[in-house]
Amino acid sequence: SQYRIAVVVGSLRKDSFNKKLATALTRLAPADFHFATSRIDDLPLYDQDDDANQADAVKRLKSEISAAQGLLFVTPEYNRSMPGVLKNALDHASRPYGTSAWDGKPAGVIGVSVGAIGTALAQQHLRNVLAYLNVPTLGQPEAFIHAKEGLFEADGSIGAASREFLQKWMNQYAAWVKRHAG
Ligand code: FNR
Repeated sequence: SQYRIAVVVGSLRKDSFNKKLATALTRLAPADFHFATSRIDDLPLYDQDDDANQADAVKRLKSEISAAQGLLFVTPEYNRSMPGVLKNALDHASRPYGTSAWDGKPAGVIGVSVGAIGTALAQQHLRNVLAYLNVPTLGQPEAFIHAKEGLFEADGSIGAASREFLQKWMNQYAAWVKRHAG
């Protein structure tokens, strides 16, 4: 069967390392995996008063998540946590109460940072939220990627120093999704 993966990237900036990592990772995936990045940059700020009348962008996000067999979160670390834009997206698609789009979707969490701890604390905060949202999240291997020279090749693929590690990560991620997809 085919596995459709919704990718959620925690950085909005044009030249984001995390956007590049998301793209490069998809090239390491098995042929029966299909990735599409869900837009989160046009979501309004979450306001509970809108739960009964969600914006079109929120409905779009929810339908993309609902249609996916798995989730891939690729996020930077902002001030030792996940970026607000990512938390905003998580909150939106979890509502109204009882209609969360995230429920039961297997996920992987990964991120790249210019800081030495490679998004470790952002990922831990994200894992905490995903646990509450009943999202079974790959535990091992962990991947805290440091953005340094040579991480990406000129064509956007993963550089030699990290390729084997990230290929193993992707293999485990794909197996995780297959195990948990309904
Ligand atoms: C950062 N950065 C950062 N890095 C880190 O390792 N730990 C941190 O807590 C933070 N905090 C932080 C806050 C804010 C507001 C910004 C803008 C940046 C640096 C961050 O790793 C760097 O900007 C990355 O390039 C962001 O990822 P993208 O946008 O390249 O995907």
